[in-house]
Amino acid sequence: MANYSIVFDQVTKTFPKAAKPSVYETSLQIEEGSFVTILGASGCGKTTLLKMVNRIHEPTSGRILVQGEDVTKVPITELRRKIGYVIQQIGLFPHMTIEENIATVPRILGWDEQKINERITFLLELVHLSPADFRKRYPRQLSGGQQQRIGLARAMAGNPSIMLMDEPFGAIDAITRTSLQDEMINIQKQLHKTILFVTHDIDEALKLGDKIVIMNNGVIQQYDTPLNIITNPANEFVSRLVHSEDVLQRLSLLTAESVMTAITGSIDPREVKVGREENVKKVLMHILNGAADSVVVVDSNQTPVGRISLAELKIHGTSKSVSAS
Ligand SMILES: Nc1ncnc2c1ncn2[C@@H]1O[C@H](COP(=O)(O)OP(=O)(O)OP(=O)(O)O)[C@@H](O)[C@H]1O
Ligand SMILES: [Mg+2]
Repeated sequence: MANYSIVFDQVTKTFPKAAKPSVYETSLQIEEGSFVTILGASGCGKTTLLKMVNRIHEPTSGRILVQGEDVTKVPITELRRKIGYVIQQIGLFPHMTIEENIATVPRILGWDEQKINERITFLLELVHLSPADFRKRYPRQLSGGQQQRIGLARAMAGNPSIMLMDEPFGAIDAITRTSLQDEMINIQKQLHKTILFVTHDIDEALKLGDKIVIMNNGVIQQYDTPLNIITNPANEFVSRLVHSEDVLQRLSLLTAESVMTAITGSIDPREVKVGREENVKKVLMHILNGAADSVVVVDSNQTPVGRISLAELKIHGTSKSVSAS
């Protein structure tokens, strides 16, 4: 049985005096260690969904489980200790230095100074800001992108197993944004957090997510892998959302590793090989040029780790199978 880090069980949220629910009858199971992006238009309920996990909002009906426990049954401080929260406006404390900002939660947790210092160094290196340069600066002495990195470091300071990230890169220019996305992918490879990441950028959702939740009007339209979202949209809404631009272009956002079926053992040496970081658009080209119906994915030592077949990459598959579950 899969290990679920967060479970939404028939969750509905209707704000007082609201004409209709902001989140409606939502059930969702988030696997431990997975990176899930939540995509949808402004006002569709993304933030509301997120804020019910750390109990900034309470559901009107339904339940939310975090690591198997009903969130209403755990003391709120204990719950929030397991959950890092990053928002677009960053919210660094302006009168505190970078190191004091990052140390906020560890201090509350009563860590000793040496452990806190080591943690600050570790986190600054993780987000690629030199500790010597940045520890003593104030937030106003940092660029927007650097402040966002500190926001991320601060949210991870107490080593939470879950990260809620609400459009963390929304206010950042395209170039910095791309590099923050790449850093996020690397951080996740090292730390294996469970991440719920809200965005309204389709490319960002496809690039970062192991799975994507697509919402419209408070209702989940599809919860699926990026490949399935692109190749097997569950309904007209999803289809219009992801196919508003070139499908091949979208496939180029996915890596071979993210769509392959894992294999072990030896392969036919004549088979076409691609690296695990290769993008799926190129993989498709390899398959079409190689006149074979599949390619082998290899790691940096040329060891076979997976296979991608044409059948799996079929665009607009006939079976409109998977929907939200
Ligand atoms: N505190 C609140 N009181 C009343 N209504 C609210 C409250 N917070 C959100 N809403 C309403 O709930 C709906 C969903 O809002 P939410 O903030 O979850 O949207 P969102 O998908 O995060 O949008 P955006 O992309 O603009 O951030 C909206 O119609 C909003 O007006
Ligand atoms: Mg929002």
